Amino acid sequence: MSRKILVTSALPYANGAIHLGHLVEYIQTDIWVRFQKMRGHTCHYVCADDTHGTPIMLRAEKEGISPEALIERVHGEHLRDFTGFHVGFDNYYSTNSEENRQFSYRIYNALKTNGKIVSRTISQLYDPVKNMFLPDRFVKGECPKCGAKDQYGDNCEVCGTTYQPTDLKNPYSAVSGATPELRDSEHFFFKLGECEDFLKSWTRAPGKLQEGAANKMQEWFEAGLNDWDISRDAPYFGFEIPDAPGKYFYVWLDAPVGYMASHKNLCDRLGIDFDSYWNKDSDAELYHFIGKDILYFHALFWPAMLEYAGYRTPTAINAHGFLTVDGAKMSKSRGTFITAESYLNHLNPEWLRYYFAAKLNNAIEDIDLNLEDFVARVNSDLIGKYINIASRAAGFLSKRFGGELTRDLGDIPLLSKLQAGAQDIAALFEAREYSRAIRDVMALADEVNQYVDQHKPWEIAKQEGRDAELQHVCSVLINAFRLLTIYLKPVLPKLAADIEAFLNLAPLSWADAGTLLLAHVINPYQHLMTRIDPKQVEAMVEENKQSLAPVVEAPKLDYDVPPIAETISIDDFMKIDLRVARIVEAKAVEGADKLVSLTLDIGTETRHVFAGIKSAYKPEDLQGRLTVMVANLAPRKMKFGMSEGMVLAAGGDGGLYILNPDDGAKPGMRVK
Ligand code: MSP
Ligand code: ZN
Repeated sequence: MSRKILVTSALPYANGAIHLGHLVEYIQTDIWVRFQKMRGHTCHYVCADDTHGTPIMLRAEKEGISPEALIERVHGEHLRDFTGFHVGFDNYYSTNSEENRQFSYRIYNALKTNGKIVSRTISQLYDPVKNMFLPDRFVKGECPKCGAKDQYGDNCEVCGTTYQPTDLKNPYSAVSGATPELRDSEHFFFKLGECEDFLKSWTRAPGKLQEGAANKMQEWFEAGLNDWDISRDAPYFGFEIPDAPGKYFYVWLDAPVGYMASHKNLCDRLGIDFDSYWNKDSDAELYHFIGKDILYFHALFWPAMLEYAGYRTPTAINAHGFLTVDGAKMSKSRGTFITAESYLNHLNPEWLRYYFAAKLNNAIEDIDLNLEDFVARVNSDLIGKYINIASRAAGFLSKRFGGELTRDLGDIPLLSKLQAGAQDIAALFEAREYSRAIRDVMALADEVNQYVDQHKPWEIAKQEGRDAELQHVCSVLINAFRLLTIYLKPVLPKLAADIEAFLNLAPLSWADAGTLLLAHVINPYQHLMTRIDPKQVEAMVEENKQSLAPVVEAPKLDYDVPPIAETISIDDFMKIDLRVARIVEAKAVEGADKLVSLTLDIGTETRHVFAGIKSAYKPEDLQGRLTVMVANLAPRKMKFGMSEGMVLAAGGDGGLYILNPDDGAKPGMRVK
C-alpha cells in the first residue's frame, strides 16, 4: 500500500553557517526520505531557514545590512551547502514568508478563540542605551552562586547553576555594555498548563516518542508545565501580532509553523492538496526529525498548538543526539568545528553520509566523528569491500564479451541470499536503524568478496576454453554489485546514479531487488570513487582552525565601502577569464579626458583596451607595468574605437588604483 508521508528537519537559524553537527540531522532525514521514495511511497521533504528573532536582527545590524538582506544571503549559503551534501529537499523555504504569516495568524487566532491565550504584565531587563528588552542570552554578569565573571543570563558555564537574568550580580547588556534596568511590559502567554491532559495522552501514545524522549516528558510533567511566553516587544525581527502594535511573535512560535508554510508553498506550486495532509482526519503521516536540544518545543508546544488550533498532530517526533568530533565537543580552536563548506572543499560528501549512516541508530545518543576511524572505515568498506567488486568484474566483461552479461545464471545461492536481504534491510531503514542496515549490507559484501576469492576471475581469464565460466562469474559479480547498490542508494545517491549510468539502468527502486540482470549490456567501467587520503582530512581541519589571537578592533573608515554583492558560485566565477597583462603601450585619447588607450600583451596575443584611469595615472608611467585584465569580455565598440577587454582597478571615493600582480608573474598567466 502506498503511503502519504510528510517529513521535516529542524529549520536552521539564518545567522550561521551549516556545520557537520547540523548535517547529522539533514543526512539522517534525507536517507529516510530517499528510502521512502525508493519504496514507491509519496514522500515530501520540506525545510526552511529559521529567520526571526533578536540574534538575527543584531547580526544584520552589525553587518550594516537589513535583516532581509542577511537572511536572503544565508538562504543561498545554506541551500548551497545542503545541495553539496545531496540533501534533497522538495522545498527549502523561509519562515519570513507570506504563507508563514498567514498560518501563524490563523493558529494564534484559533488558540485565542479557544481561550488558550492570556496576557500578563512581566518585568524584564531593559537596555536603556539600545532601547530594547534583553533576551536572557544578551544579559551578562557574575554568577549569583560562584561569582564567576561574564556569565550569561540563563546559566553559569563554570558551576552549572541555572537562574534568572535578574539574579546576576553586576549585570550588563551584552549589546551595549549598559547596566540594564527592570521595566514592565505586557506579554501574551500560551496556556500550556491547560493542555496537560491532552499532552500526557499524546506523548504516551505508542510510537510518538522514543523511549529517551518519553522519559524526559515524564520529568517535565512532574516539574509542572508553565505557560509559555509567545510575545516580544519591538524592536524585533518577526511578525507583528494582529491587534497588538509593537508586539511580535516570539521566533519559536512561528518557527514550527514554518514546516506548514514550506509545505503549503510546495503544494501550491505542484497542485497538491495541502489540507489532506494537515486536516484533523488526515490519512497522511507527519514526521519531524530534530536534535535532542529542541525536544520541548516539538513534543509539547507544537502538538498543543496544532491540537487547539484544529489541525492534525505529528505521527512521531524523531530525535537524535549531538555530534562530537574525536570524542569532544566541536571546537573552533582545534579546528573540529567543521563547516559544511570547508568539508566540501576537501572531501567527498558521500564519505560523510556513509560514515554517519554507519553510526546512526534510532536512539537519542550522541555520535562521534573520529577522524582516523572515518578514513579507515570509508576506505575499507566503500572502496575495499564494495566498489572493488565492480572494478574486478567489469573489465573482463567489456574486454571479452562486449559488456554483455550472461543469458542464464542458474541458481546462485549467493545472489538468492543477497536478494533475500531486501526485506530485513528495508525494515532497518524504516526503523532508522541505519548502523544495523549498513552492518548487514557490508556482511553481504563480505560474502561477495569470498565468492571472488573462491572463483578468481583473473585466473580463469588466463586459461583457454573457459570463456563461458569467466562471463558467468563476472555476471554474478555485477548482479551482486547491483543488489548492494540498491541497498546503499538511500545513503549514497550520487554514487548510485553514477552506477546506474555505468550499468545502463533506469533509476533503481527497492522492488528491483526482486529481479536479476540477464543478457544485459553494461558500459565500460569508469572510475567510481577514490580512497580518502588522510592529508585531505588534515587540510580540512587546518582550514577550520581559528587563531585564538584577540580580534583587533577595525579602524574607523573615512571612505565609503559598498555592500558585498550577491553570492555567486565558483562556476560563475570561473567563467571570468582573468589574465596577467603587460602594458606595452599607453596613450592619452584625444577628445576624452578620462580615458587612456592601452595595448596589452597577454602572452599569446595583444589586446587593445580603453581604461577610465586618466584621473589617477599619467599614460607614460603605465608603460611596461604588469596588471590584470578580463580577457573574455565581449569586445565593445566605444566612441574612439573597439575595446577588447577590461583592466582591473580598485576604486571609489577613496581613489583609483590599478591591480598589480606580485613580482614574477608573466603575461598570459591565468588569475584565479
Ligand atoms: N532554529 C531552530 C530549530 C527550529 S525548528 C522549528 C534550531 N536551529 S539550529 O540551527 O540551532 O539547529 C538546527 C538543527 O540542527 C537542530 O535540530 C539541532 O539539534 C541540530 N544540531 C545543531 N548542532 C548539532 C550538533 N552539534 N549535533 C547534532 N545536531 C545538531 O535549533
Ligand atoms: Zn557559577
